Amino acid sequence: MTRTIVAATQENMQAARDLAAQIGAMLAPIETSTFPDGEIKVRATGAASRTVFFHRLDRPNEKLTTLFLAAAALRDLGADEIVLVAPYLCYMRQDQAFHKGEAVSQQVIGALISQWVDHIITVEPHLHRIKDLSTVFPSIKVTSLSAAPLLAGFVKEVCSKGETVLVGPDEEALAWTRVVAAQAGVPYVVMKKIRRGDRRVEITLDPIIKIAGKYVYLVDDIVSSGATLCAAAALLKERGAARIEAIAVHALCSQQDLKAIKGAGIARLRSTDTVPHETNAVNVTSLLALALGAPTI
Ligand code: R5P
Repeated sequence: MTRTIVAATQENMQAARDLAAQIGAMLAPIETSTFPDGEIKVRATGAASRTVFFHRLDRPNEKLTTLFLAAAALRDLGADEIVLVAPYLCYMRQDQAFHKGEAVSQQVIGALISQWVDHIITVEPHLHRIKDLSTVFPSIKVTSLSAAPLLAGFVKEVCSKGETVLVGPDEEALAWTRVVAAQAGVPYVVMKKIRRGDRRVEITLDPIIKIAGKYVYLVDDIVSSGATLCAAAALLKERGAARIEAIAVHALCSQQDLKAIKGAGIARLRSTDTVPHETNAVNVTSLLALALGAPTI
């Protein structure tokens, strides 16, 4: 059976084409346009019984509408099974009502997406209190891929000189900083973080840990405002780090935030291309292709 991959936005087209080439599928673009009042019009140009929808869900509000409309159009064209490949999955961080009256976005958006697709393949979803992606999407199949081997390979390549230490900027980063460090064969430490607001964090590091003179590589899953990286870099500089670089799975930060990150002393921030971003340095296509190689696709 010919596999079909669809993608809706221009920024996704090249990555979708690469993925299609790797798994031997054809690419059928989803055409979109915007009416004068801002509503979106969607037209699917092709579908197969099993259709793979490549859709990176950063800056997600409009992209979610496109997803729902496109999924409906794909069903009309005969897609019995829609596999959403969303290397970055949105709205995962608001997993509880932190203040009275707040919507639990993770559940709401999870339920909406579940209505339209049969399977989600994603990379390093930001799960905190909810540990398992299938809790967010109980009615559909989920595949959660780890970027750790790709990051480890990259870190190994760039950290070959000097005395390197990987630094996770908060305790949430512990599990996978440990994995990346072990696979890359470099030591790691993890900082402690208290978040005071969207752009206000406090970071501490056990004073016994020696940073002076070291080449420090910060690793995080998401760079959103960049506040975490900036606070971490300030402390590492204070402790005498020889050089600070950073790598993230999902880079969501703006140009302005990027400037602040550089200003904070991070010589270079690199990211995977789960989100299209000027810091992209690690390609995840092979990881996605492997997941799509499963016999059910
Ligand atoms: C936190 O839980 C995450 O792992 C990241 O550290 C966080 O999302 C980064 O956000 P920001 O760049 O806004 O500090």
